[in-house]
Amino acid sequence: MKNMVSENVQNIEISGIRKFYNKVVKVPEAVSLTLGQPDFNVPDKIKKAMINAIMDNKTTYTSNAGIIELRCEISKYLRDEFNINYNEEEICLTVGGSQGLLSTFTALINKGDKVLIPTPAYPAYESCVKILGGEVLNYKLNDDFSINHEKLYEIIMKENPKIMVLSYPCNPTGAILTKDDKEKIYSLIKEKDIVVVTDEIYSSLCFEKEYYSIAQYKDIKEKIVLVSGFSKMFSMTGLRLGYVCADSKLMNNIMKVHQYNVSCAPSIVQWGAYEGIRSCLGDVEYMKNEFIKRRDYVYKRLIEMGFEVNLPKGAFYIFPCIKKFNMTSDEFCEKLLNEAKVAVVPGSAFGKGGEGYLRISYCCSMEELKEALNRIENCIKK
Ligand SMILES: Cc1ncc(COP(=O)(O)O)c(C=O)c1O
Repeated sequence: MKNMVSENVQNIEISGIRKFYNKVVKVPEAVSLTLGQPDFNVPDKIKKAMINAIMDNKTTYTSNAGIIELRCEISKYLRDEFNINYNEEEICLTVGGSQGLLSTFTALINKGDKVLIPTPAYPAYESCVKILGGEVLNYKLNDDFSINHEKLYEIIMKENPKIMVLSYPCNPTGAILTKDDKEKIYSLIKEKDIVVVTDEIYSSLCFEKEYYSIAQYKDIKEKIVLVSGFSKMFSMTGLRLGYVCADSKLMNNIMKVHQYNVSCAPSIVQWGAYEGIRSCLGDVEYMKNEFIKRRDYVYKRLIEMGFEVNLPKGAFYIFPCIKKFNMTSDEFCEKLLNEAKVAVVPGSAFGKGGEGYLRISYCCSMEELKEALNRIENCIKK
């Protein structure tokens, strides 16, 4: 039979993170710092709320957008914590941030539409755009992974993209959006017909006092889609709950896609998150402080070993440079896996801009981190 698979789908590959993870499982003695799954358990109150939801038979479909109680709490949370204003009608609960992203891109992209994506970046953006027949335009970052505003301005003027992706705090670099970034991007967006998809799934893990987001501007709201979720915030990656915020015109269209795709997010988990957002923000603060301790430890060890590396300001990843070893990031990671028995993700999994770097997830125990860093140190000494 002839190949019946969509060309768009044939042309994308499975995520480099997963590809490498599949190699890691074949080396069972390896310490793995590959996945974005925090080592904390889901807070007890959330678990209990989900058990109660089951016992109370809250197991039917919810409204397409999700339970109003949780949407009201998200609205309040975004306002109180981040100075971001969306009312409950402008929020839709999704099956993880992932489905929020794909529904948003599906609602926006026509074949050939240009989408600006930073490199390195979380790989799903490029793949979603390609599945939908959009054209990916990468915008390069500075050496410290901050936005190069001159280059960004040039590419926007030259290429006229329809959509721009922002992703802060950043997976894989740990960078955050600064006040200056926010203001410069605002001036650009205000003048142009461009929609910003801002993925802020790590917003609860910003290590700086002030939080900056392009979604804080009210007068460009019709040009912004905010994607976020609870996977990282409540350490509940397997429970699959995220959300999208957008003004009514965009939201009505995102909702069409969402409705025909999943109908609604899982009801039980929505009740769990409802409890979490009201009574577990202390647990989130605790997890954030633990990540800061681990970040400081990993950063110090890498600097002592002679790696060039930026201090992450959020999320739970660090992205050291390995260019001086004269190996590709794939070769370096393969060597580290086989010789040091430590698994980290090659930077190339995050696009062209990630080549020459490694992504280390530090969302595992301090003991594992110590062991992994000792092994890396011994390996590079050799
Ligand atoms: C930047 C970023 N966005 C979105 C997601 C997807 O999140 P979820 O597991 O809620 O679908 C991830 C997961 O690692 C991520 O790192």
